[in-house]
Amino acid sequence: MHQFLPVAYFKGQFTAFEDANISIATHALHYGTGAFGGLRGIPDPQNPSQILLFRLDRHCQRLSSSARLLNFGLPADKIQSVIIEFVRRNRPQVSFYIRPLVYTSDLGISPRLHNVEKDFFVYGLELGDYLSPEGVSCRISSWYRQEDRSLPLRGKISGAYITSSLAKTEAVESGFDEAILMNTQGKVSEASGMNVFIVRAGKLITPGYDQDILEGITRESIITIAKDLEIEVIERPVDKSELFIADEVFLSGTAAKITPVRQIETHHMPQSRPVTEKLREKLSAVVENRDPAYQKWVFPIEVA
Ligand SMILES: Cc1ncc(COP(=O)(O)O)c(C=O)c1O
Repeated sequence: MHQFLPVAYFKGQFTAFEDANISIATHALHYGTGAFGGLRGIPDPQNPSQILLFRLDRHCQRLSSSARLLNFGLPADKIQSVIIEFVRRNRPQVSFYIRPLVYTSDLGISPRLHNVEKDFFVYGLELGDYLSPEGVSCRISSWYRQEDRSLPLRGKISGAYITSSLAKTEAVESGFDEAILMNTQGKVSEASGMNVFIVRAGKLITPGYDQDILEGITRESIITIAKDLEIEVIERPVDKSELFIADEVFLSGTAAKITPVRQIETHHMPQSRPVTEKLREKLSAVVENRDPAYQKWVFPIEVA
């Protein structure tokens, strides 16, 4: 059972989480016409009166872009100020996850994005490890990642998550932890809610934006960190068979952080993962604001 944070933002105001409820006739519930974000916060390990939010600005920008794809003008700075106030009111004591969502909030039928009321809400929940930090087993999904010509993949659109859900359940029900989806070109795209990286001969390789991936903010952060650590980074199409012969494979996402992959289908990955571990250590230091070089990515919110 999730532990939800007590205060939500709903219909333009802050209210008790239990009172933030929608009607069964809500348009978005029927058509998947929503878009969401997901960001993590932690109590500042160095300063108990502060909460640290990782890359708040980027998450707000991405949600604002997703909203535009739904014909909804919602400026990133509006989302950002609501999230800051949301954190101040909740004052979480443990690691948590913020879920902002924009959606067609009108009541009634007919799929469309014009002439339909939209709204924006925010709630949060306590969240530790989403996937085992020890490593996960992955199935190659029989479901393919959608294409941008049928669904705007640059947004984090609610309706797209039917594919993630099908893939995740298929993987778990067949004995794996997670799914890796190919795109319709037959190349590696991403996992159910994470981007995919492989390491070959010390080089970090990941599918580019032209491989139908979500523009992951953790992915972007890892690429920057890796380059700063003088690890060569290559964004290019990745074949399924490369997953099997890679030296290391890991998944990245806000919820999953950096999660090593220990098995893909019947292939067991090497147990030594020097690049994954180096990046994971660095990312943890950055998120906890222990690395001055990346302070601009960490938003301290005063809650005392
Ligand atoms: C489908 C999908 N891909 C990738 C990611 C990773 O993105 P981020 O690092 O911004 O959390 C997510 C999670 O948001 C996701 O849902």
